Amino acid sequence: MHEASGMIALPDTEKPPVLEVTGLRKHFGDQVALDGVDLKVYEGEVVAVLGPSGSGKSTLVRCIDQLESIDGGAMFLDGELLGYEQSHGHLRPLADAARKRQQRRMSMVFQQFNLFPHWTVLRNITEAPMVVHGATPAEARERAMELLRRVGLEDKANAYPRHLSGGQQQRVAIARSAAVDPRILLFDEPTSSLDPELVDEVLQTIKKLASTGRTMVVVTHELEFARNVADRCVFMAAGRVIEDRPAEDFFEDPRSERLRTFLARSSRSPREVSG
Ligand SMILES: Nc1ncnc2c1ncn2[C@@H]1O[C@H](COP(=O)(O)OP(=O)(O)OP(=O)(O)O)[C@@H](O)[C@H]1O
Ligand SMILES: [Mg+2]
Repeated sequence: MHEASGMIALPDTEKPPVLEVTGLRKHFGDQVALDGVDLKVYEGEVVAVLGPSGSGKSTLVRCIDQLESIDGGAMFLDGELLGYEQSHGHLRPLADAARKRQQRRMSMVFQQFNLFPHWTVLRNITEAPMVVHGATPAEARERAMELLRRVGLEDKANAYPRHLSGGQQQRVAIARSAAVDPRILLFDEPTSSLDPELVDEVLQTIKKLASTGRTMVVVTHELEFARNVADRCVFMAAGRVIEDRPAEDFFEDPRSERLRTFLARSSRSPREVSG
Protein backbone atom coordinates (compact mmCIF):
# COMPACT_ATOMS: atom_id res chain seq x y z
CA MET A 1 0.00 0.00 0.00
CA HIS A 2 0.83 3.63 -0.27
CA GLU A 3 3.55 4.60 2.18
CA ALA A 4 1.55 7.53 3.51
CA SER A 5 -1.95 6.21 2.93
CA GLY A 6 -2.88 7.10 6.48
CA MET A 7 -2.31 10.78 5.76
CA ILE A 8 -3.18 11.16 2.11
CA ALA A 9 -6.86 11.26 1.20
CA LEU A 10 -8.10 8.35 -0.86
CA PRO A 11 -8.49 9.12 -4.56
CA ASP A 12 -11.42 11.40 -5.09
CA THR A 13 -13.52 9.27 -7.42
CA GLU A 14 -16.20 11.96 -7.47
CA LYS A 15 -13.87 14.08 -9.56
CA PRO A 16 -13.12 13.08 -13.16
CA PRO A 17 -10.04 10.89 -13.42
CA VAL A 18 -6.74 12.50 -14.41
CA LEU A 19 -6.43 9.80 -17.05
CA GLU A 20 -9.17 7.76 -18.62
CA VAL A 21 -8.62 5.10 -21.25
CA THR A 22 -11.64 3.45 -22.84
CA GLY A 23 -11.73 0.56 -25.28
CA LEU A 24 -8.17 1.23 -26.42
CA ARG A 25 -7.09 -0.87 -29.39
CA LYS A 26 -3.73 -1.08 -31.07
CA HIS A 27 -2.30 -3.53 -33.54
CA PHE A 28 1.00 -3.92 -35.31
CA GLY A 29 0.12 -5.59 -38.61
CA ASP A 30 -1.71 -8.79 -37.67
CA GLN A 31 -0.46 -8.63 -34.09
CA VAL A 32 -3.09 -7.27 -31.71
CA ALA A 33 -1.17 -5.46 -28.95
CA LEU A 34 -4.13 -3.84 -27.15
CA ASP A 35 -7.53 -5.45 -27.41
CA GLY A 36 -9.92 -3.00 -25.78
CA VAL A 37 -8.21 -1.65 -22.67
CA ASP A 38 -10.11 0.39 -20.05
CA LEU A 39 -8.25 2.22 -17.31
CA LYS A 40 -8.97 5.12 -14.98
CA VAL A 41 -6.31 6.83 -12.90
CA TYR A 42 -7.41 9.35 -10.27
CA GLU A 43 -5.51 12.27 -8.81
CA GLY A 44 -2.70 11.12 -6.51
CA GLU A 45 -3.09 7.46 -7.38
CA VAL A 46 -0.19 5.14 -8.10
CA VAL A 47 -1.23 2.38 -10.49
CA ALA A 48 1.12 -0.53 -11.19
CA VAL A 49 0.73 -2.42 -14.46
CA LEU A 50 1.91 -6.02 -14.38
CA GLY A 51 1.72 -8.90 -16.80
CA PRO A 52 3.74 -11.35 -18.84
CA SER A 53 6.08 -10.30 -21.61
CA GLY A 54 4.20 -9.24 -24.73
CA SER A 55 0.93 -8.54 -22.89
CA GLY A 56 0.84 -4.93 -24.09
CA LYS A 57 2.12 -3.00 -21.05
CA SER A 58 4.66 -0.87 -22.93
CA THR A 59 2.26 -0.34 -25.80
CA LEU A 60 -0.33 0.95 -23.34
CA VAL A 61 1.93 3.59 -21.78
CA ARG A 62 3.40 4.48 -25.16
CA CYS A 63 -0.12 5.06 -26.53
CA ILE A 64 -0.98 7.21 -23.51
CA ASP A 65 2.17 9.28 -24.07
CA GLN A 66 1.21 9.48 -27.76
CA LEU A 67 4.38 7.81 -28.94
CA GLU A 68 2.14 5.35 -30.83
CA SER A 69 -0.96 6.01 -32.88
CA ILE A 70 -4.09 4.14 -31.76
CA ASP A 71 -6.52 2.03 -33.77
CA GLY A 72 -9.62 2.33 -31.63
CA GLY A 73 -11.03 3.60 -28.36
CA ALA A 74 -10.14 6.88 -26.73
CA MET A 75 -7.96 8.43 -24.04
CA PHE A 76 -8.68 11.52 -21.98
CA LEU A 77 -6.36 13.65 -19.86
CA ASP A 78 -8.33 15.72 -17.36
CA GLY A 79 -11.36 15.09 -19.52
CA GLU A 80 -9.68 16.29 -22.71
CA LEU A 81 -9.56 13.89 -25.63
CA LEU A 82 -5.96 12.93 -26.38
CA GLY A 83 -4.56 12.92 -29.90
CA TYR A 84 -7.79 13.77 -31.74
CA GLU A 85 -10.35 16.49 -32.11
CA GLN A 86 -14.00 16.41 -33.06
CA SER A 87 -14.63 17.90 -36.46
CA HIS A 88 -18.10 17.76 -38.07
CA GLY A 89 -18.98 14.70 -36.06
CA HIS A 90 -15.75 12.90 -36.99
CA LEU A 91 -12.50 12.41 -35.15
CA ARG A 92 -9.48 14.01 -36.75
CA PRO A 93 -5.88 13.54 -35.57
CA LEU A 94 -4.59 16.63 -33.81
CA ALA A 95 -2.05 18.81 -35.54
CA ASP A 96 1.52 18.37 -34.27
CA ALA A 97 1.59 21.53 -32.16
CA ALA A 98 -1.63 20.63 -30.34
CA ARG A 99 -0.43 17.08 -29.76
CA LYS A 100 2.85 18.32 -28.35
CA ARG A 101 0.93 20.61 -25.98
CA GLN A 102 -0.89 17.57 -24.63
CA GLN A 103 2.31 15.54 -24.42
CA ARG A 104 3.89 18.22 -22.26
CA ARG A 105 1.35 17.51 -19.55
CA MET A 106 2.71 13.97 -19.18
CA SER A 107 6.18 12.64 -18.53
CA MET A 108 7.62 9.24 -19.20
CA VAL A 109 10.58 7.47 -17.62
CA PHE A 110 11.99 4.76 -19.86
CA GLN A 111 14.09 1.68 -19.24
CA GLN A 112 17.01 3.44 -20.90
CA PHE A 113 17.30 6.80 -19.22
CA ASN A 114 18.55 8.73 -22.28
CA LEU A 115 20.21 11.61 -20.48
CA PHE A 116 22.09 14.00 -22.75
CA PRO A 117 25.71 12.90 -22.29
CA HIS A 118 27.28 16.28 -23.02
CA TRP A 119 25.11 18.15 -20.51
CA THR A 120 25.55 18.26 -16.76
CA VAL A 121 22.98 16.64 -14.52
CA LEU A 122 21.61 20.08 -13.69
CA ARG A 123 21.18 21.07 -17.33
CA ASN A 124 19.53 17.77 -18.14
CA ILE A 125 16.87 18.66 -15.58
CA THR A 126 16.48 22.40 -16.22
CA GLU A 127 16.32 22.31 -20.03
CA ALA A 128 12.67 21.28 -20.53
CA PRO A 129 11.23 23.52 -17.81
CA MET A 130 13.06 26.49 -19.39
CA VAL A 131 12.75 25.78 -23.09
CA VAL A 132 9.36 24.07 -23.20
CA HIS A 133 7.56 25.40 -20.14
CA GLY A 134 8.94 28.93 -19.93
CA ALA A 135 10.53 28.78 -16.47
CA THR A 136 13.24 31.35 -15.74
CA PRO A 137 16.78 29.97 -15.25
CA ALA A 138 16.59 30.76 -11.53
CA GLU A 139 13.22 29.01 -11.12
CA ALA A 140 14.35 26.00 -13.11
CA ARG A 141 17.57 25.74 -11.13
CA GLU A 142 15.87 26.01 -7.76
CA ARG A 143 13.33 23.37 -8.71
CA ALA A 144 16.02 21.08 -10.12
CA MET A 145 18.11 21.35 -6.95
CA GLU A 146 15.07 20.58 -4.83
CA LEU A 147 14.37 17.48 -6.93
CA LEU A 148 18.02 16.44 -6.83
CA ARG A 149 17.87 16.66 -3.05
CA ARG A 150 14.78 14.52 -3.11
CA VAL A 151 16.46 11.83 -5.22
CA GLY A 152 19.60 12.10 -3.07
CA LEU A 153 21.92 13.49 -5.74
CA GLU A 154 22.36 17.17 -4.96
CA ASP A 155 26.13 16.73 -4.90
CA LYS A 156 26.02 15.50 -8.53
CA ALA A 157 24.42 18.61 -10.03
CA ASN A 158 27.53 19.51 -12.00
CA ALA A 159 28.58 15.98 -12.91
CA TYR A 160 28.13 14.51 -16.38
CA PRO A 161 26.02 11.39 -16.85
CA ARG A 162 29.05 9.23 -17.69
CA HIS A 163 30.35 9.84 -14.16
CA LEU A 164 27.22 8.39 -12.58
CA SER A 165 26.18 4.81 -11.99
CA GLY A 166 23.18 3.44 -13.91
CA GLY A 167 21.00 3.78 -10.84
CA GLN A 168 22.09 7.37 -10.30
CA GLN A 169 21.43 8.17 -13.95
CA GLN A 170 17.95 6.73 -13.67
CA ARG A 171 17.33 8.82 -10.54
CA VAL A 172 18.36 11.91 -12.53
CA ALA A 173 15.97 10.84 -15.29
CA ILE A 174 13.20 10.58 -12.71
CA ALA A 175 14.01 14.05 -11.37
CA ARG A 176 13.98 15.33 -14.94
CA SER A 177 10.53 13.86 -15.56
CA ALA A 178 9.15 15.32 -12.36
CA ALA A 179 10.69 18.76 -13.04
CA VAL A 180 8.03 19.68 -15.60
CA ASP A 181 5.26 19.03 -13.05
CA PRO A 182 3.36 16.60 -15.22
CA ARG A 183 -0.27 15.75 -14.53
CA ILE A 184 0.77 12.13 -14.76
CA LEU A 185 4.11 10.34 -14.64
CA LEU A 186 4.48 7.18 -16.70
CA PHE A 187 7.20 4.61 -16.01
CA ASP A 188 8.02 1.71 -18.31
CA GLU A 189 10.12 -0.86 -16.43
CA PRO A 190 12.35 1.83 -14.93
CA THR A 191 14.65 -0.68 -13.25
CA SER A 192 14.92 -3.49 -15.75
CA SER A 193 18.12 -2.33 -17.41
CA LEU A 194 19.92 -1.86 -14.08
CA ASP A 195 22.34 -4.17 -12.33
CA PRO A 196 20.46 -5.90 -9.53
CA GLU A 197 22.30 -4.05 -6.76
CA LEU A 198 21.15 -0.70 -8.18
CA VAL A 199 17.48 -1.57 -8.49
CA ASP A 200 16.53 -0.84 -4.91
CA GLU A 201 17.80 2.75 -4.84
CA VAL A 202 15.70 3.56 -7.91
CA LEU A 203 12.60 1.86 -6.50
CA GLN A 204 13.09 3.85 -3.29
CA THR A 205 13.28 7.05 -5.32
CA ILE A 206 10.01 6.26 -7.08
CA LYS A 207 8.45 5.32 -3.77
CA LYS A 208 9.46 8.66 -2.29
CA LEU A 209 8.02 10.53 -5.26
CA ALA A 210 4.79 8.54 -4.95
CA SER A 211 4.48 9.58 -1.32
CA THR A 212 4.36 13.24 -2.37
CA GLY A 213 1.00 12.64 -4.02
CA ARG A 214 2.07 12.35 -7.66
CA THR A 215 -0.26 10.60 -10.05
CA MET A 216 1.63 7.70 -11.61
CA VAL A 217 1.33 4.67 -13.84
CA VAL A 218 4.24 2.29 -13.33
CA VAL A 219 4.84 -0.70 -15.57
CA THR A 220 7.00 -3.01 -13.52
CA HIS A 221 7.86 -6.62 -12.87
CA GLU A 222 8.89 -5.83 -9.30
CA LEU A 223 6.05 -7.46 -7.38
CA GLU A 224 7.10 -6.36 -3.91
CA PHE A 225 7.44 -2.81 -5.12
CA ALA A 226 3.96 -2.89 -6.64
CA ARG A 227 2.56 -4.35 -3.46
CA ASN A 228 4.21 -1.74 -1.23
CA VAL A 229 3.85 1.36 -3.32
CA ALA A 230 0.86 1.04 -5.66
CA ASP A 231 -2.67 1.91 -4.66
CA ARG A 232 -4.02 -0.22 -7.47
CA CYS A 233 -2.60 -3.01 -9.59
CA VAL A 234 -3.62 -3.84 -13.10
CA PHE A 235 -2.87 -7.25 -14.59
CA MET A 236 -2.67 -7.48 -18.37
CA ALA A 237 -2.56 -10.54 -20.57
CA ALA A 238 -2.80 -10.72 -24.35
CA GLY A 239 -3.65 -7.04 -24.73
CA ARG A 240 -6.47 -7.01 -22.18
CA VAL A 241 -6.89 -5.95 -18.59
CA ILE A 242 -7.67 -9.12 -16.69
CA GLU A 243 -7.75 -7.66 -13.17
CA ASP A 244 -7.76 -4.11 -11.84
CA ARG A 245 -7.89 -4.14 -8.05
CA PRO A 246 -6.60 -2.43 -4.93
CA ALA A 247 -3.03 -3.62 -4.44
CA GLU A 248 -3.81 -5.68 -1.35
CA ASP A 249 -6.65 -7.64 -2.95
CA PHE A 250 -4.61 -8.11 -6.09
CA PHE A 251 -1.94 -10.02 -4.21
CA GLU A 252 -3.98 -11.58 -1.42
CA ASP A 253 -7.01 -12.64 -3.38
CA PRO A 254 -6.36 -12.88 -7.13
CA ARG A 255 -9.59 -13.78 -8.91
CA SER A 256 -8.36 -15.22 -12.16
CA GLU A 257 -6.37 -18.38 -12.65
CA ARG A 258 -4.08 -16.44 -14.98
CA LEU A 259 -3.13 -13.94 -12.31
CA ARG A 260 -2.67 -16.68 -9.71
CA THR A 261 -0.29 -18.49 -12.05
CA PHE A 262 1.53 -15.27 -12.90
CA LEU A 263 2.01 -14.35 -9.23
CA ALA A 264 3.15 -17.83 -8.29
CA ARG A 265 5.67 -17.86 -11.12
CA SER A 266 6.95 -14.34 -10.59
CA SER A 267 7.28 -14.48 -6.84
CA ARG A 268 9.91 -17.19 -6.90
CA SER A 269 12.56 -14.50 -6.68
CA PRO A 270 10.89 -11.84 -4.58
CA ARG A 271 12.56 -8.52 -4.00
CA GLU A 272 11.92 -6.72 -0.77
CA VAL A 273 11.51 -2.96 -0.86
CA SER A 274 12.61 -1.79 2.50
CA GLY A 275 11.69 1.41 4.30
N1 LIG B 1 6.85 -1.64 -32.78
C1 LIG B 1 6.28 -2.84 -32.81
N2 LIG B 1 6.14 -3.51 -33.97
C2 LIG B 1 5.55 -4.72 -34.02
N3 LIG B 1 5.03 -5.35 -32.96
C3 LIG B 1 5.12 -4.73 -31.77
C4 LIG B 1 5.77 -3.45 -31.63
N4 LIG B 1 5.70 -3.10 -30.33
C5 LIG B 1 5.07 -4.11 -29.68
N5 LIG B 1 4.72 -5.08 -30.54
C6 LIG B 1 4.00 -6.32 -30.20
O1 LIG B 1 2.88 -5.96 -29.41
C7 LIG B 1 2.70 -6.88 -28.34
C8 LIG B 1 2.77 -6.12 -27.03
O2 LIG B 1 4.09 -5.67 -26.84
P1 LIG B 1 4.55 -4.80 -25.60
O3 LIG B 1 5.92 -4.34 -25.88
O4 LIG B 1 3.52 -3.77 -25.32
O5 LIG B 1 4.53 -5.88 -24.44
P2 LIG B 1 5.03 -5.75 -22.93
O6 LIG B 1 3.90 -6.22 -22.08
O7 LIG B 1 5.56 -4.40 -22.69
O8 LIG B 1 6.19 -6.84 -22.87
P3 LIG B 1 7.57 -6.83 -22.01
O9 LIG B 1 7.20 -7.25 -20.61
O10 LIG B 1 8.41 -7.87 -22.68
O11 LIG B 1 8.16 -5.45 -22.08
C9 LIG B 1 3.80 -7.93 -28.50
O12 LIG B 1 3.25 -9.02 -29.17
C10 LIG B 1 4.82 -7.24 -29.34
O13 LIG B 1 5.55 -8.15 -30.11
MG1 LIG C 1 7.47 -3.65 -22.18
